[in-house]
Amino acid sequence: MKVVVIQGPNLNMLGIREQHIYGPMKLEQIHEQMKKFASDNGFEIEFFQSNLEGEIVDRIQECLGDADGIIINPAAYSHTSIAIRDALSAVQIPAIEVHISNIHAREDFRKHSLTAEVCAGVIAGVGPFGYHLAMVAMSQILNEIRAAREMQKQQNA
Ligand code: DQA
Repeated sequence: MKVVVIQGPNLNMLGIREQHIYGPMKLEQIHEQMKKFASDNGFEIEFFQSNLEGEIVDRIQECLGDADGIIINPAAYSHTSIAIRDALSAVQIPAIEVHISNIHAREDFRKHSLTAEVCAGVIAGVGPFGYHLAMVAMSQILNEIRAAREMQKQQNA
């Protein structure tokens, strides 16, 4: 089974940007930890980062028929992008949204996420550890999908 991790604008700047909000960890370090979790738990993982809305929409569409789960931090697009929300809705692949910071404790314009409304779950405010929690949640979702497929196979046999 495969999980695709999609990172939105400015997340390539982690470790440099506003360290008092996002901490010192770089995106590559976060991805290294996620890679280890995936290999320990027997699933494939791919990573994608873009500062461009359309590229994120394209990557979500490419997940169709290819990925079983999506972990996404749409970053600033969470608060503005109907296109990314529609793409998540269109592919109907379970997604977990991650925010490093607690978006509910920040400026008003960050408090609402258009994309969270079409995700299976949201994790916010626990720093980069949120990506680990998203992996735990995703492995539970993948187990449930696996079990449902197995049951379907047995019923068809
Ligand atoms: C963020 C929160 C967003 O409001 C912000 O635009 C980001 C990062 C987070 O991970 O906390 O770029 O998604």
